[in-house]
Amino acid sequence: MPLAGRLAGGAALGLLLAAQAVAALEPISTAIAIGAASALTGYLSKDVYCRFAECCPKEQPLNASALKLELEEKLFGQHLATEVILKALTGFRNNKNPKKPLTLSLHGWAGTGKNFVSQIVAENLHSRGLKSNFVHLFVSTLHFPHEQQIKLYQDQLQKWIQGNVSACASSIFIFDEMDKLHPGVIDAIKPFLDYYEQIDGVSYRKAIFIFLSNAGGDLITKVALDFWLAGRKREEIQLKDLEQVLSVGVFNNKHSGLWHSRLIDKNLIDYFIPFLPLEYTHVKDCVRAEMKARGSTIDEDIVTRVADEMTFFPKEEKIYSDKGCKTVQSRLDFH
Ligand SMILES: *[C@@H]1O[C@H](CO)[C@@H](O)[C@H](O)[C@H]1NC(C)=O
Ligand SMILES: *[C@@H]1O[C@H](CO)[C@@H](O)[C@H](O)[C@H]1NC(C)=O
Repeated sequence: MPLAGRLAGGAALGLLLAAQAVAALEPISTAIAIGAASALTGYLSKDVYCRFAECCPKEQPLNASALKLELEEKLFGQHLATEVILKALTGFRNNKNPKKPLTLSLHGWAGTGKNFVSQIVAENLHSRGLKSNFVHLFVSTLHFPHEQQIKLYQDQLQKWIQGNVSACASSIFIFDEMDKLHPGVIDAIKPFLDYYEQIDGVSYRKAIFIFLSNAGGDLITKVALDFWLAGRKREEIQLKDLEQVLSVGVFNNKHSGLWHSRLIDKNLIDYFIPFLPLEYTHVKDCVRAEMKARGSTIDEDIVTRVADEMTFFPKEEKIYSDKGCKTVQSRLDFH
């Protein structure tokens, strides 16, 4: 090997070791160190680089059994959401040439697991989950609070989506609190969700858009309650019992963020996913899961006490938790 080559190789190894030492400490400086090493030597392979810095996965098939397992173990009382999410994601990821990006609209009261599910989806597609550079979370009241600035938000959002999808085709965009979002904002992203091959040289077909909303929570609860009153099992509720009610209901609800939105108008939402209101036993499941996550042994006394502190509705029947599992963590802290 020529001397220069050996020197460069040695330098690369040295930098790599240095980078490994830094890796344990801080991802950004690691990325810089590795970047420097690659630039200096041109010797580091992409594989090595991607072990330290986050790379956009080109063709990374989804591990459907891992996703299924995770949903079954961690998401309680949502047989419909589990089923639809699995079907939607495996179908989308196994399709080499999707004709449009995947768009999911998640509906249900607070605390029923919508945020949790989007987190799980993000983690199963990008290992750093919500912290990934390729996963973008927008919260209406935080990112788009002022009605007078809709024009600005529209421009910003279009630039961001375009920029991020150019950098990584499999980017994920999550819009939380859709019910508090001005519909105009969401209509600005419509072109990206449509069946275009490319827009200005960028293809959006591998991206995923997830919308979260409380809208439709009342309709979902009504269906669940009807089943309960008829003495039927919750698990008997099928998607067809809800899907139509939901998309029409959401379209006509002024506070859905999708109100008379062109997204629904043009059938750009692939799946409406209902989250059912949670019952007493599900709240207990949540408490146990939280204890397990904290590494403590499961104390059934505390499980019962935390669940008993929650309030339940409707007034008469008291079946469903007002806040779902939302306050379980803080209540557990208290006990
Ligand atoms: C997929 O996930 C399952 C369950 O976690 C695991 O046992 C299996 O090894 C994974 N498969 C691949 C190809 O990573
Ligand atoms: C990607 O999106 C983020 C917002 O999540 C934005 O701050 C950033 O500028 C975008 N990147 C590009 C290249 O547009």
